[in-house]
Amino acid sequence: MLSWEKTSFKTLAIENDGYGGICQRAWIEVNDQALIYNVQQLKSLLSAKTQLMGVVKADAYGHGACKISKTILEAGVNWLAVATLPEGIELRLAGIKAPILILGAIDRPEQIRAIAHWQLQPTICKPQQALVFSETLSYQTEPMPVHLKLDTGMSRLGTPWQQAVEFVKFVQGLPNLKIASIYSHLATADNLDQTVMKQQHQRFEEAIGFCGFSGKNFSGNIRLHLANSAATLTDSALHYDMVRVGLAIYGLYPAPHLQDKINLKPVMQVKARVTQVKTIEAGTGVSYGYQFIAPKQMSLAVVGIGYADGVPRNLSNKMKVIVRDQLIPQVGAITMDQLMLDVSAIPDLETGEVVTLLGQVGKYQISAEDWANTLGTISWEILCGFKNRLPRIAV
Ligand SMILES: Cc1ncc(COP(=O)(O)O)c(C=O)c1O
Repeated sequence: MLSWEKTSFKTLAIENDGYGGICQRAWIEVNDQALIYNVQQLKSLLSAKTQLMGVVKADAYGHGACKISKTILEAGVNWLAVATLPEGIELRLAGIKAPILILGAIDRPEQIRAIAHWQLQPTICKPQQALVFSETLSYQTEPMPVHLKLDTGMSRLGTPWQQAVEFVKFVQGLPNLKIASIYSHLATADNLDQTVMKQQHQRFEEAIGFCGFSGKNFSGNIRLHLANSAATLTDSALHYDMVRVGLAIYGLYPAPHLQDKINLKPVMQVKARVTQVKTIEAGTGVSYGYQFIAPKQMSLAVVGIGYADGVPRNLSNKMKVIVRDQLIPQVGAITMDQLMLDVSAIPDLETGEVVTLLGQVGKYQISAEDWANTLGTISWEILCGFKNRLPRIAV
């Protein structure tokens, strides 16, 4: 058989991949069982009164928000959080009925009316914003549930904790809003040194104490919440009435020192296919800028995934992938849609074979954290880099 015939035969086999051929080039595998397991692990840390909010902003950290939301709600998550109005609408359009908090700041009347229409719940960061909400919603018969954000030290959204009492009283005095929760966000919960986190906790306690809310009991009216993944794993005193968990749901630890708290399983695997295999001679340059020159004759594989899919270009020449049962080095600059591998160790490699970029095959595992460590960034950024150009397949 001629080699091109062999290739087209293989391509045909790929099209019959059971997913209508969408796994022909590159894809993300979302492990539902791992997702459910992670939710159960997290819930085992929480007391019966503490609800679990799944943070599904940024397309569920690159995993695909609608599908992830449905699965985690079925697994026992009580609330969802998104960053933007369109993210919330996307979930409603997918038929999701659970309460959805928008974490970002919104203050335009047309957006406020959309929040009401889609029955989403906004974050209110300052009195002026609350006023705009209340005035805009004068046509409503029911008050809108709103979530007041206090800044206890993150220096991002929120009213300074010292002004909590005035803020709460002001919103309570407005006709078209009702306070559903008061919350704050921690800046350093994943640090081994807990000094700042303890200070923020103390400020939150003070603020809600001055407002007359107990930090320990949800009375059925106003929920209190403070913890992200790291704080949820660190200390149950930070759990209050609800925890807002993102990263841990997706099976990653916010920091190495938190790994013994519960067992988590990575949900995302990133895979792509070999699209061409060729032999190159010693001295041959590979990819843009010739950042790699073959030191000897070698076998090169082209793979159909690149930085436009979410593989950071700065990993060029620094990453390994798993092919069959081997760790294989990537060589040359990662391009927009493709990257190259030195596959000299697998002489019989064929077009169409699967390459695992993130995930586990046999004894090898490559995690978003490994990439983050190489790049000097955080695993959150690696996950969010995977946009919906890659189809997501539930496995
Ligand atoms: C306000 C807020 N709460 C909770 C989270 C979830 O954080 P994590 O992914 O560390 O659990 C985020 C994420 O950035 C956030 O912005």
